Amino acid sequence: MTRALVTGGAGFVGRHLCARLLSEGLDVVCVDSVVHGTGGLLPEHWPVPPKGRFTFVSSDCRDYFARTNERFDYVYHLAAVVGGRIMMETQALSVAEDLAVDALMWKWAAATRPGCVVFFSSSAAYSIGHQRAIGHTLLREEMISFQEGLGVPDLSYGWAKLTGEFLMKLYVERYGGRAVAYRPFSGYGEDQDLAYPFPAICQRLMAEMGRDEVFVWGSGRQCRDFIHISDCVDFVWRTVDRLPTGASLNLSTGIATSFITLAEEVARQIGWDPKVSGLSDKPEGVFYRCGDTRMQADYGLAPSIELSDGIGRMLEQLRFKAGRAA
Ligand SMILES: NC(=O)c1ccc[n+]([C@@H]2O[C@H](COP(=O)([O-])OP(=O)(O)OC[C@H]3O[C@@H](n4cnc5c(N)ncnc54)[C@H](O)[C@@H]3O)[C@@H](O)[C@H]2O)c1
Repeated sequence: MTRALVTGGAGFVGRHLCARLLSEGLDVVCVDSVVHGTGGLLPEHWPVPPKGRFTFVSSDCRDYFARTNERFDYVYHLAAVVGGRIMMETQALSVAEDLAVDALMWKWAAATRPGCVVFFSSSAAYSIGHQRAIGHTLLREEMISFQEGLGVPDLSYGWAKLTGEFLMKLYVERYGGRAVAYRPFSGYGEDQDLAYPFPAICQRLMAEMGRDEVFVWGSGRQCRDFIHISDCVDFVWRTVDRLPTGASLNLSTGIATSFITLAEEVARQIGWDPKVSGLSDKPEGVFYRCGDTRMQADYGLAPSIELSDGIGRMLEQLRFKAGRAA
């Protein structure tokens, strides 16, 4: 039986990843301390309960690494203090704890030699210099090169992810381990925490239906590359054994959508046409973050869920919840 450890597996991405690994017949150990302010949920609160050979370990993964020397076939390392933009901006030093978590994970991996370590990096590892209003460009995997130079990533979260990828390089080159990394862009889905723009905008607009004007954070012109969580997980499953060791792959659609456009589409699907304005007292983050898809296409990957369909799913879920509450 193939055994996978998923750190941070009770979070948004982790719940979907665990479900996929279980459905593929893997034996899954999920270690998560359900950190306050993250998207973590105890398994009894997961929208879809885990089915199959699933073990939940309620623990900080650092303690788990200190007491366990089991060799796993796969270690999916997702544990991170993430949160939305407010957390990244106002709790930058709490987020920086991810540096310690990642360092211990790589050290533990060097000692226990898993078959493959899968490091969840982020699009936040890319240089913010490529994401400005003027001169922005699609973010390509090779823009992060530890040989040829690097830009400044996005706050302590981006530094942690960039450093995690550097540690992966050392793990592969100096310790001979197998590891790959993924850089998700704006992964979204129906059970995502409301600290993230996609569910927050959908929920707010449902509540404000009929108003003449609605608001989104920042100028509203900032763009993100929204990719549905089931496509993210599918891309990982289909490439984890095919990527060369030490490689990093974007999880992106290549389509940039502004927050205003997102809100307009949500309102259209709800059935009205308000003016959408920005809220200048709320953080905007980088201006344009969108991932090149050429490397994904080389692996035969193409997203299966368009943003408009993802919005439809989210609204259906919100209507269902509202119906149950009534
Ligand atoms: N959701 C996205 O679109 C996205 C984008 C880029 C990168 N990522 C990366 O994917 C991973 C998962 O993100 P997510 O969106 O599911 O976030 P999330 O907040 O929903 O999940 C993170 C999980 O990690 C757990 N955790 C944090 N510190 C821990 C520790 N020391 N020990 C054990 N568990 C710990 C939390 O309790 C939480 O359950 C993260 O590494 C994140 O950086 C996600």
